[in-house]
Amino acid sequence: MKHRYEWLETEWKRMREQSLDRAWQTVEPLAEAGGAWICVRGKKLLNLSVNNYLGLAHEQRIVEAGERAARKWGAGGTASRLVLGNYPLYDELEQRLAEWKRREGALVFANGYQANTGVIAALAGRGDVVFSDRLNHASIVDGIILSRAEHVRYRHNDLEHLEFLLQKYQGKRRKWIVTDSIFSMDGDKAPLLALAELRERYGALLMVDEAHAGGVRGEQGQGLCHELGMADQVDVLVGTFSKAFGVYGAYVCADQPVIRHLRSKARSLIYSTALPPAVIGSTLEALTQIETDTWRRQALRENASLFRQMLQEKGFHITDDDTQIIPLAIGENERALQFSQKLLERGIAAVAIRPPTVPDGTARIRFTVMATHTPQELTWAVQELTAIRDELDGRDAL
Ligand SMILES: Cc1ncc(COP(=O)(O)O)c(C=O)c1O
Repeated sequence: MKHRYEWLETEWKRMREQSLDRAWQTVEPLAEAGGAWICVRGKKLLNLSVNNYLGLAHEQRIVEAGERAARKWGAGGTASRLVLGNYPLYDELEQRLAEWKRREGALVFANGYQANTGVIAALAGRGDVVFSDRLNHASIVDGIILSRAEHVRYRHNDLEHLEFLLQKYQGKRRKWIVTDSIFSMDGDKAPLLALAELRERYGALLMVDEAHAGGVRGEQGQGLCHELGMADQVDVLVGTFSKAFGVYGAYVCADQPVIRHLRSKARSLIYSTALPPAVIGSTLEALTQIETDTWRRQALRENASLFRQMLQEKGFHITDDDTQIIPLAIGENERALQFSQKLLERGIAAVAIRPPTVPDGTARIRFTVMATHTPQELTWAVQELTAIRDELDGRDAL
């Protein structure tokens, strides 16, 4: 008899040959540096790859708010919110979120992955069509698959293609357009104003995932839709607490009929235990900081602009976007891994992103800057990057 797991051995071998195998390392964040530095196997590294954009994960007031909530309400959520797991902290957070986003209601989910899968599967179904940007996050893709609606992908940010498809599927019961607002692996922005126009023209519904814009865009960090003044033309706004908030969990903001429906129909919400009180306590405090600490947003914006500009000056092919996600296109998986390893040796943590997270042949280093980086740290990082590029294959290779 063949070995029981031979198929897994074969698959593993294939992944290794294509440099697609994955592993993680144990990371210790250095709290005193606001998470901007970490320690890996005893080596101190500048952190240029996490989503803790504002450095709030180590902010004492946020950590302490979590501690207080745990002491008062216990360590665990103890049940689904529909089964006696709905503590007062939840209601408070949802009320605050609705006010912050200026929407009729809000719902907290366990994380962004569960928010997207739960929301799309609850709102779309057989007979509907969901138009989804090709570069949308995997949780959106999985939500559409779960929904059993027709899944139609449009070319990245291609409005003409989307409009063509909207006309083609005109006869469908309901038409959803779903997009990230800032794309997680490319750092570019969706054409939200134009999408809102298409929503209007074709009687479609629009859902926007603000995972990477929540906390960092908009006057009080509400996201890109608010920055552009079109949030009231979005039917469902999703965001997470795991990135700029520095905590964990996610939210949906929408009008009451949508919220009411989700409370009864979103399976990832119903069939899962409520988030622990510590997480909600910390999130409430993070929301306060996001609403009021505009200096963090400003510092992040300046750091992103500085890092992009310095890389461009050194001849790296970096786009002119204005977000904190700054990918360096490399191409081959093995080369991206090699580049990331060289960075590590020089004291910089920036991971290689490979398929299926990004399309085949587009492996990259995904740099993310933080509000808590200093200009000196970023300048040093660019020097190291340039040295690696020159060492690997000559000046104009990237
Ligand atoms: C656009 C987008 N949506 C959703 C998620 C999932 O969020 P979470 O990490 O809270 O599950 C991510 C996380 O990487 C994301 O980039």
